[in-house]
Amino acid sequence: MDKKTCLVTGCAGFVGSHLTAALLAAGHDVVGVDNFFTGYEHNMAGFRDHPGFEFHEVSITEKGLLERFKDNHPELDVVFQLAAIVSVPYSVEHPELTMEVNFEANERMHASARKLGMRGFVFAGSAAEYGEEDRLPVREEYADEATQLSPYGIAKYKSSFLIEASGFGCSLRFFNIFGPRQDPTSQYSGVISKFVDFGLAGKNMVIFGDGEQTRDFIYVDDVVSAYLIAAGLDSEGRGPLTGIYNVGTGSSISVLRLAGIVAKLTSAPTEIEFRPERAGDIKHSYADVTRITGKGFKAEVPFEDGLARTVRWAADESGKD
Ligand SMILES: NC(=O)c1ccc[n+]([C@@H]2O[C@H](COP(=O)([O-])OP(=O)(O)OC[C@H]3O[C@@H](n4cnc5c(N)ncnc54)[C@H](O)[C@@H]3O)[C@@H](O)[C@H]2O)c1
Repeated sequence: MDKKTCLVTGCAGFVGSHLTAALLAAGHDVVGVDNFFTGYEHNMAGFRDHPGFEFHEVSITEKGLLERFKDNHPELDVVFQLAAIVSVPYSVEHPELTMEVNFEANERMHASARKLGMRGFVFAGSAAEYGEEDRLPVREEYADEATQLSPYGIAKYKSSFLIEASGFGCSLRFFNIFGPRQDPTSQYSGVISKFVDFGLAGKNMVIFGDGEQTRDFIYVDDVVSAYLIAAGLDSEGRGPLTGIYNVGTGSSISVLRLAGIVAKLTSAPTEIEFRPERAGDIKHSYADVTRITGKGFKAEVPFEDGLARTVRWAADESGKD
């Protein structure tokens, strides 16, 4: 595999820090961008001083950003666009900012990458683009602007749609990602990091609704593998991909069962507090992964192994306080 120079936006975030570390480990160079909106300097600790890494604290909304990087790095060839406002409730409170960051900045970056003749453009789409879809498993073609539930979903949907229509680059629609460095302190963070945090603190776990709701949880290392395939940087070099691809495991687990496993792994009190169901929460969701499977992707990390790794990481982190 030839050495590439890649732009990773959102490199100080949960997924972006794993992707950056993997690209550097594979011998590529990374220009990283983040404005620390929800990311952290400490997420970059493993690669901040790597000779192949160059960091820029800047917003992706800055015009001409990609052109500037390309001037300084003519070999820059692949863009991984992860930077985003990631909270659905925040997007409801701040729809304009969400559209500016999650759609307009992406539209500009995608157009620039295309004009500059870059080889790959990979956008972080989301299962939220399916809105209140209830057909299962969820297939890529089910997404529809009319069923969107939030500005987050609309912005991601519009971005994915634009990329697909252009024939340049791809959008990976991720289901629920989990793993080390997912921020448990954020009030909006994923259910797994919250359960792990509660479990390690010896607090009861809180479930909204009856806990029978199911989700497709995918471990972050598998997400990184999907990214490498999408950009044509895996060992087979099948990409770069164009179009839209679901990225999940293709199976689901209930929130109640998840709470039980986390309780066992953290030796937490198994009591669960049930609270009223939250408005807008969908009951069941899991991905149809036929498309990405056809490109050589398979989620490899068993769910309980991924959870155990996440719990170990969180326990080490809490031991640092
Ligand atoms: N975690 C999941 O389960 C999940 C599921 C589907 C999609 N996604 C998408 O994957 C991507 C990464 O998500 P994550 O879970 O790592 O979240 P994260 O919050 O840890 O990472 C997002 C990063 O983007 C940065 N950022 C935000 N606005 C920016 C701006 N204007 N300019 C520069 N940087 C900015 C943040 O500071 C943060 O470091 C996001 O696009 C998210 O929507 C995540």
